[in-house]
Amino acid sequence: MKILYVTSEAVPFCKTGGLADVAGSLPPALAEQGAEVAVILPLYDRVRVQFGDRLKFECYDYVDLAWRHSYCGLFSLEQDGVTWYFLDNEQYFNRGALYGQADDGERFGFFSRAVVRMLDHLKFWPEVIHCNDWQAALVPIYLKDDGVREDRYRSIRTVLTIHNIEYQGRYNPFVLGDLFGLDHGWADDGTILMDGDVNLLKGAILCSDAVNAVSPTYANELKMPFFAHRMESIMRQCSNKLYGVLNGIDMKLYDPRTDGHIKKTFSAEDMTGKDECKAELQRMTGLRQEPHTPIVAIVSRLVSHKGLDLICEVLHDMMELPIQMVVLGTGDQRYEEFFHWAAQQYPGRMSVNLDYNEALSMSIYAGADLFLMPSKSEPCGLSQMIAMRYGTVPIVRETGGLRDTVQPCESWRDAGNGFSFANYSSGDMLHVIREAVYLYKDYPDVFARLRQRAMAGDFSWARSAREYLRIYSTITGIEWPVRKDTARVDTARGEEEAHPFEEAPVPVETAPAEEPPVKTASAEEPPVKTASAEEPPVKTAPVEEPPVKTAPAEEPPVKTAPVEEPPVEAAPAEETPAETAPAEETPKKTRKTAKSAEKSGEKASKKAGKTGAKSAKKGTAKKKKAE
Ligand code: GLC
Repeated sequence: MKILYVTSEAVPFCKTGGLADVAGSLPPALAEQGAEVAVILPLYDRVRVQFGDRLKFECYDYVDLAWRHSYCGLFSLEQDGVTWYFLDNEQYFNRGALYGQADDGERFGFFSRAVVRMLDHLKFWPEVIHCNDWQAALVPIYLKDDGVREDRYRSIRTVLTIHNIEYQGRYNPFVLGDLFGLDHGWADDGTILMDGDVNLLKGAILCSDAVNAVSPTYANELKMPFFAHRMESIMRQCSNKLYGVLNGIDMKLYDPRTDGHIKKTFSAEDMTGKDECKAELQRMTGLRQEPHTPIVAIVSRLVSHKGLDLICEVLHDMMELPIQMVVLGTGDQRYEEFFHWAAQQYPGRMSVNLDYNEALSMSIYAGADLFLMPSKSEPCGLSQMIAMRYGTVPIVRETGGLRDTVQPCESWRDAGNGFSFANYSSGDMLHVIREAVYLYKDYPDVFARLRQRAMAGDFSWARSAREYLRIYSTITGIEWPVRKDTARVDTARGEEEAHPFEEAPVPVETAPAEEPPVKTASAEEPPVKTASAEEPPVKTAPVEEPPVKTAPAEEPPVKTAPVEEPPVEAAPAEETPAETAPAEETPKKTRKTAKSAEKSGEKASKKAGKTGAKSAKKGTAKKKKAE
């Protein structure tokens, strides 16, 4: 199987967010499984500076896009069984920053056009082109365009991975011909038009042979207005080709047994090193040397969808518990100011680091006890997996990949690998934080076993790579693995041998749009109980080998009283938070089975989707890729 992976960033070459981690790990994992893999990305100035001496010049050509005729160089580098191709055009890619330029549309229009143009010069003609996010969204569209004239483009199958649907590549329709070289028919029939804008992601969703989100739950959430940033009807229309594939993490890089960046290595069997890491973290961040006080950590971009409003609301209640807090991240001014102020209120108990600091983040993963991630939405999330690997038990909201990786603790039967709450409610969050602290303080043995289960999770890329290969196999018709006796099956620690001929993955089922995903706190109904996990709200794509399996929690082990008195400086927990879901998307308990999962059998047509409502806002909303 020959796969070309198209991305705008990849570790170790260039990174702004989680996409780079995925693009750096998945292609080598696919190669491990026996696929032929090449990755193609822009040759940014930072890549040239750091990797220039290892780059091999292959050739150059010219890319025609609208009236432009631009130079494009092709460089390559072999690493981890993968050929990494870099497309060179200094005018577009020598900019310092990766994104956020006024001409991002033109830059990534050029990039996508150049990928298709340079196919002739690569080491193979791909059977699958796997594109990521809006920056590569024009690739499947150009392939359809060129396929009209040349058969060989029609032979290529395409996959689009959505890492975060918030970023769609939206432009004024005015630019369709001039910037992207596309005929107005693409807008007229609605394929690339949405809410009056050219929407590159929508075009790619309709034109790709398969679309996947980075976790099964996120794939289902994308059919709901609360999560889909207006794309819900398109996602539902395409549900017959929509998959959810959970990301992995680099299990070798993030290994507390061998990690040279942490104070002392440790393992699930011998946790003494973690105690030293904790003492070191307290020393580094100015927290009191208290070995028996749990450290709650937040390593996050400080932006709204990370659920920080919940923390702002109940921070004082949290600090009344015997905890220390460490916060690391940068982001919106209002959160930076809040945490800066909060740190001053709790000297020696709260450390706030408004910074992007990889080294400190590793010290936090290794030294903290609990990892808080109450995201409003989270396509996958990698940090909860890294935290678990280092025995830092996650506390998460049940959304997206958080829901797929963290199973709530049921101490009565020693199950689960973290703590979770369903409703976007500060009261519910506080309840599980209390539960976690209570377990840590009063039942250290139970907590230690919980920690071990968190550390035992298998978040390796091999599992995800096999799922992607089955998707490629489904859309190309190429048998995979090729033959039972030659198939290479990963037998990583804790992972069962995968059956070489597992069934092809089934696209995720359509979730009813009426079913609200979250519940906000309301004045009448104080948020006391965490939602039970008995009935998932929607059916997700089959993950044949879930990292950790636990039975549903029927009753949280501890029940605490609702927050009765509002904290002095923060909004009361009973009040609906300012940033929560709008009224029509509120109430109803979450994790409720869809009564009638409206299973739309609609076929997604190649150039269908006359949904481009021409009404709404005009003007360009240039969404910039922020992570
Ligand atoms: C985006 C998402 C994040 C995900 C990452 C990699 O950054 O916001 O949840 O883990 O992409 O897919």
